[in-house]
Amino acid sequence: MALIELSGVGRRYGSGRTSVVALRGVDLEVQAGEFVSVMGPSGSGKSTLMNVLGLLDKPSEGTYTLAGRPMHRLTGRQLAGERNRRIGFVFQAFFLLPRLTLAENVAVPLIYRGVAGLARRRLAVRALESVGIADLADRRPTEVSGGQQQRAAIARALVAEPALILADEPTGALDSHTGAGIMALFQDLNARGLTIIQVTHEPDIARHGIRLIRVRDGRLAAEERVRDRLLAKDVLAQWSGGAEPGGRLADAPEEGIGVDAH
Ligand SMILES: Nc1ncnc2c1ncn2[C@@H]1O[C@H](COP(=O)(O)OP(=O)(O)OP(=O)(O)O)[C@@H](O)[C@H]1O
Ligand SMILES: [Mg+2]
Repeated sequence: MALIELSGVGRRYGSGRTSVVALRGVDLEVQAGEFVSVMGPSGSGKSTLMNVLGLLDKPSEGTYTLAGRPMHRLTGRQLAGERNRRIGFVFQAFFLLPRLTLAENVAVPLIYRGVAGLARRRLAVRALESVGIADLADRRPTEVSGGQQQRAAIARALVAEPALILADEPTGALDSHTGAGIMALFQDLNARGLTIIQVTHEPDIARHGIRLIRVRDGRLAAEERVRDRLLAKDVLAQWSGGAEPGGRLADAPEEGIGVDAH
């Protein structure tokens, strides 16, 4: 059984002559344990697709089955329950709350699940550990780097142990080296069984996935297995190979990392 099954999914915003069709006739299956990259031009419907998959938005037509359950039949309240239980979100802009520490940010989803304070702290620190920044648990978002903020956001996505991570431009606000670090983390999580779907504009980020889906004009235009998959660990090793003795990175290309690795 597929983890995700979309059949004939459409999403129209507004009605009448001014309506916008953001998705049309989308059929998609994603198996548990896949790592899927979604690419496509601006306005092609990628975020709309992610919002539908993440139960943040309802399709105007078609059916969505998640883990064998028909999501299109559920009420708003039931959808919120499914979302909290099964899905973790990662966004380009991190969306951490500035007045809370990283541990408190990571613990937020647990409040909604009714987990008690002490247990929340313990689970949050464990999630921060799993993304390599447990030592920053008591800092606020402004006191850490962009890459560390994204790690904290990923820890928050992981803390309730979802089956599915949905990431919309997770590296969009990060430099390429930091982005490669996030891809290393995703590949690690994926190797441990987590299903990941990410939207990206960067071909080299997309190449960390197992499967690539291209969206065009609200439709799934093409689908392929990633042939020359990038392993983020290799990409990062290349960067440290280029580091000077003082630890400063040598001038590394902004684009095309790993493309000419062989
Ligand atoms: N809330 C909304 N109301 C009306 N139209 C919307 C809404 N959200 C998205 N759209 C329209 O739906 C289409 C798809 O938008 P979507 O945000 O999914 O694109 P995208 O592929 O994520 O683009 P980008 O790469 O710029 O993030 C666009 O034409 C957009 O203007
Ligand atoms: Mg978008």
